[in-house]
Amino acid sequence: FQVHWEAEQAEKAGYDHFMLKEIHEQPRALRDTLRGRIDDDCRRAVLDELNLEPGFVKNLNKIFVTACGTAFHAGVVGKYIIEKLVRLPVEVDIASEFRYRDPLIGPGDLVVVVSQSGETADTRAALREAKSRGARVVAITNVVGSSIAREADSVLYTWAGPEIAVASTKAYVTQLAAFYLLAVWLAGERGALPGEEREDLLRALRELHHGVGQILAGAGEIAALARRYHQRHCLFFIGRGLDYAVAMEGSLKLKEISYIHAEAYAAGELKHGTLALITEGVPVIALATQPELFEKTLSNIKEVKARGAEVVTLTFQGDHDSEELGDFRVYLPPTHPFLAPILTVVPLQLFAYYAAVYRGCSVDKPRNLAKSVTVE
Ligand code: AGP
Repeated sequence: FQVHWEAEQAEKAGYDHFMLKEIHEQPRALRDTLRGRIDDDCRRAVLDELNLEPGFVKNLNKIFVTACGTAFHAGVVGKYIIEKLVRLPVEVDIASEFRYRDPLIGPGDLVVVVSQSGETADTRAALREAKSRGARVVAITNVVGSSIAREADSVLYTWAGPEIAVASTKAYVTQLAAFYLLAVWLAGERGALPGEEREDLLRALRELHHGVGQILAGAGEIAALARRYHQRHCLFFIGRGLDYAVAMEGSLKLKEISYIHAEAYAAGELKHGTLALITEGVPVIALATQPELFEKTLSNIKEVKARGAEVVTLTFQGDHDSEELGDFRVYLPPTHPFLAPILTVVPLQLFAYYAAVYRGCSVDKPRNLAKSVTVE
C-alpha cells in the first residue's frame, strides 16, 4: 500500500489532489489542443483529421451534438458557438436521451459525440444509433484508441493528457477549444464568417492560456469565497446565453465533489418559479460576461438581491465596479467575449474544489461516482 501511496503522491506532482493538478494543467492542455490547428497568420483553423468533404459540409442542414455530464455541458456551449459562427441549427442532447428518442437524423447529417474517456456507455450507444441511421459521426475525445475514437468516422482529439480526478476539468476546457476550432473551420468551409472576425477569434483563442494562467494565480480569492459558502445547503448559478451554458458546468462541479446541492438557471427564467426559492442569504453565483446580455443579467442580479440573495458575480474587468453588480465580484482577464466560457469555468472549478476540501470530501473520488461510466 505504501508503495502505491507514494507513487500516487508523485503523480500528483506536489498538488494535494489530482483535480487541483488538472485544473492547473489547463493552460498547457489548451496550448497542446490548439497546437498545429491554427495557421500562422490566424486566418483559418486547420482540421484535416476531420475528413469531411467540402460537398458534405456545404450541403449540411443540421448538426447534432450528444454526450453525458460535463461533456454534455461542453456540447451546450458548442451549440451556441456553432450556431453563432456557422449559422447552422445545432441540436444538443444528453446521450441517454438521444439514443432512445428515435432521433430524426439520417445521411447528410453531422453528429458530434463528446467524451473525455471515449468509453461512456450511453455516448457509445448514441454514436452507434447515429451511424445506424447513416449520419456522419465526429468524435471529440481525450483518449487515443478509445472505443468511441475507433467507432467514429473521424476524431478531433483533445490533448489534455490523462485526466484522473472523477470531476472533469481540463477535458472540458479542451472540449470547448475543440468546438471553437470546429465552428471556425465549418464557417470557413461554408464562407459563413468574415475573415477579419475569424482572425480576431483565432488570435484571441491562441493567447487564451495566458488568461487561464492569470485566473489560476488568483485562486486564493476563490478559495476565500469557497470557505464563505462551503457550509451552505444550496447555491444557484445563473446566466444568459453562453453564461447559462457555463453555469450548468459550475453547478455540476459543485454538486459532484462537495455534495452541496446547486442548480444552474437561465437568469431570465427565475421569475417563472425559482425566484420563490431565493430567500435571505441564499448564495447566487451570477455569470455576466456577454456584453449584449449584460444589462439584462444585471437586472436579474438586482432581482435576486432584492429577495435577500448574496451574489457573487463573474464578469470582465471594468464592468460597473459597483455594489449593484453583486456583493462580491470576480474579474476575468479581458478576452474576446465570445471565448468567455474557457475563462469563466476556471473560477467555478476552483470554487467547487475548495468547497469540497473545506468540507473534507473525497475530492478525487467522490461517493457513488466513477471516472468513466462504462455501464448503463
Ligand atoms: C464530470 O465531472 C463527471 N465526471 C461526469 O459527468 C462525466 O463528464 C461524464 O460521465 C461523461 O464522461 P466522458 O466525458 O468520459 O464520456
